[in-house]
Amino acid sequence: MAQIYSRILATGSALPERVLTNADLEKFVDTSDEWIRERTGIRQRHVAAEGETTGDLSTLAAQRALDAAGVKASELDLIILGTTTPDIIFPSTACLVQHRLGANGCAAFDVNAACSGFVYALGVADKFIRSGQSKKVLVMGAETLTRMINWEERETAVLFGDGAGAVVLEASREPGIYATCLHADGGHKELLYNPVGVSVGFKDEPNHGVRIRMSGREVFKVAVKTLDSLVEETLAAAGMQASQLDWLIPHQANLRIIEATAKRLNMSMDQVIVTVDKHANTSAGSVPLALDYAVRSGKVKRGQNLLLEAFGGGFTWASALLRY
Ligand code: COA
Repeated sequence: MAQIYSRILATGSALPERVLTNADLEKFVDTSDEWIRERTGIRQRHVAAEGETTGDLSTLAAQRALDAAGVKASELDLIILGTTTPDIIFPSTACLVQHRLGANGCAAFDVNAACSGFVYALGVADKFIRSGQSKKVLVMGAETLTRMINWEERETAVLFGDGAGAVVLEASREPGIYATCLHADGGHKELLYNPVGVSVGFKDEPNHGVRIRMSGREVFKVAVKTLDSLVEETLAAAGMQASQLDWLIPHQANLRIIEATAKRLNMSMDQVIVTVDKHANTSAGSVPLALDYAVRSGKVKRGQNLLLEAFGGGFTWASALLRY
């Protein structure tokens, strides 16, 4: 039987209206625009309004992707949302989005793989399509990470933003996703985590709120090394050479990490989609936001080979190599 591939029909994204620049941050955090730009490449981030949720942003991104694909929500047979900032504990945000789109009845669930959430979700969706189980799938990555920022902690306050991205996948005889690689190593939990949770009893240190804890320097080192081997693994899994790649669409956490991966692949920065300057780190939202920007700006064209990769808390790391 001929191979079935998952093909991206269209993309969509959504960002909160409010923009917080580095200069805005300088007013209430002990930091500077220069420090943030030099260390991370970030110039601004979008921040969700009060009451604006991950589900709101996901629904908007999904509707834009569905419209661009010319697909009705009722045609979907699977919805997967990568997020670590769900609206509520349950039902999953994927279920909330499903109902708002009017796709009731199909399977819907969240994937929590921190910043790798979207690429994980894409990997899972690809397996459903390849197995013949699903024909049209909505995959999203979305976060309202600023909800867990303590704005007095400059080490993390400057790094994160909110946003959502989505793709509509279709089963196709044409490629499509060639390969996905998903990994995790829970041994690194202490380097990047949020300790607040349900089963531990919602405990956190007093006066700190629900906050992200991160050892920035260590995360940086492991991320660069891990992404180096991830991109090699992905090329091998797809049976391709780096020279066949048209675009690198990386997780947007830090420009220096992105540059290191591009260098490893021998790709010029002209072949790399960079949105970290405008969006900061939107965790699971980052790769689909970058992808939608790349498609809608006309940079990425049909038939081109894209390498998507992400790294985040867990640690988790994941990639997808596909023909758009
Ligand atoms: N503004 C100004 N100064 C800051 C600051 C801020 N926002 N945050 C930290 N500093 C200070 C530190 O206190 C330290 O001061 P000191 O030298 O007097 O002690 C100095 O800047 C250097 O801090 P350090 O943490 O060593 O900087 P760094 O070069 O490692 O850059 C990160 C910090 C967080 C930007 C960088 O480590 C990073 O991006 N790591 C990866 C994070 C990441 O991607 N996380 C998500 C993964 S999904």
